[in-house]
Amino acid sequence: AIDISNLRDQTGYVTLDKGYKNTGATKSAITFLDGEEGILRYRGYSIEELAAKATFLEVAYLLIYGELPTQEQYSKFENSIRRHTIVNEDMRKIFEGFPVNAHPMGVLSSLVSAMSAFYPDSYDGKGEDKTELHILRLLAKLPTIATWSYKKSQGHPVNYPKNSLDYCSNFLHMMFALPVEDYKIDPVVAEALNVLLILHADHEQNCSTSTVRLVGSSQANLYSSISAGISALWGPLHGGANQEVIEMLEAIKADGGDVAKYVDMAKNAKTTGFRLFGFGHRVYKNFDPRAKIIKKAADDVLSKLGVNDPVLEIAKQLEELALNDPYFVQRKLYPNVDFYSGIIYRALGIPTNMFTVMFAIGRLPGWIAQWKEMRETKEPIGRPRQIYVGETLRDFVPMADRK
Ligand code: ACO
Repeated sequence: AIDISNLRDQTGYVTLDKGYKNTGATKSAITFLDGEEGILRYRGYSIEELAAKATFLEVAYLLIYGELPTQEQYSKFENSIRRHTIVNEDMRKIFEGFPVNAHPMGVLSSLVSAMSAFYPDSYDGKGEDKTELHILRLLAKLPTIATWSYKKSQGHPVNYPKNSLDYCSNFLHMMFALPVEDYKIDPVVAEALNVLLILHADHEQNCSTSTVRLVGSSQANLYSSISAGISALWGPLHGGANQEVIEMLEAIKADGGDVAKYVDMAKNAKTTGFRLFGFGHRVYKNFDPRAKIIKKAADDVLSKLGVNDPVLEIAKQLEELALNDPYFVQRKLYPNVDFYSGIIYRALGIPTNMFTVMFAIGRLPGWIAQWKEMRETKEPIGRPRQIYVGETLRDFVPMADRK
């Protein structure tokens, strides 16, 4: 018989599209993205308008349920989230086992995964549908868990949520309040956080969202699917880029601020292995609209807070040089959402290793909305094909005869 194990694929049975650069895996009604024109809309509303006028929870509601909430719907949603902000004390025991220098993204994905064990009613989609409850729990508890790592790194006790506060202020309270002194939420900081979270809330079929959908397509529960999404987000080519950007800008500063040298290194990325973090995007071949909003917000926030960060100057010089360089122009490499976000996070007092955690808090409603949509449209299990390039059939050789 003819062995067709690799012949079938060569004769056109399978489409090879590494990195799924041009493969649509789903129809979705959540986020519209036009990379050529630099347009981003959630459920039809422009990102510019949402960032200027909405709260993060309004946007979360919009993404998850499809429409902007009425006042009544909003109050109910917000209050329901408030009821779930406390995290089971036994989860703290797991947390306490992590080393003090554990990366907060590792802690976050582990504890979200642990939630599937704490809420076993999340398992199988049989019986009563508790999806709404899981959604509320995740939205409510993710900020609480996120702040634990920071508190531990400081040697400080964790803060319990303060439910009289709004979502962003509550996060700031859990991060920065100390039992020994009064902590006042700065409205400039809370508003900046609100905008950043909105800008990160969804971005259609990016790596982490596709991961959430792929894991969820096996009918794995919401917590496990989101935990997988957090892990995917952590990578430096995806959400981890915001940490890399600041570290890169710091390195340039420490190296005497020679921005041109780093642009040259990036132009030779193939030999140097160095890329400008925060530059380039799989879909945007024009300005990332989120980067435009963030750049302006960085200027505003730093001046309102009276922060003078030399790294912002380096970032601007880098952008200027790259945008006028044929290497970047020809490849349509523009600053992406991560280029300026770290500068704002820093000004808000958030440490570098928490930047990607901030991204995860922002992206959570998008992941939930995409997971829910996938379930509702009853999508089949995700299962890409491959082109086999290994050996054809061969005979087994007993160990004694192997060379
Ligand atoms: N610096 C220098 N060169 C770059 C950069 C960069 N940041 N990004 C892409 N290039 C070059 C590549 O070397 C390649 O050059 P070539 O045509 O000579 O081969 C060309 O541009 C195309 O790059 P690809 O890697 O093929 O593009 P892809 O769509 O696969 O990658 C990605 C997109 C991963 C975002 C890439 O631009 C990158 O690595 N950027 C830096 C990391 C980053 O900022 N990630 C955050 C993305 S946004 C987000 O996830 C929220």
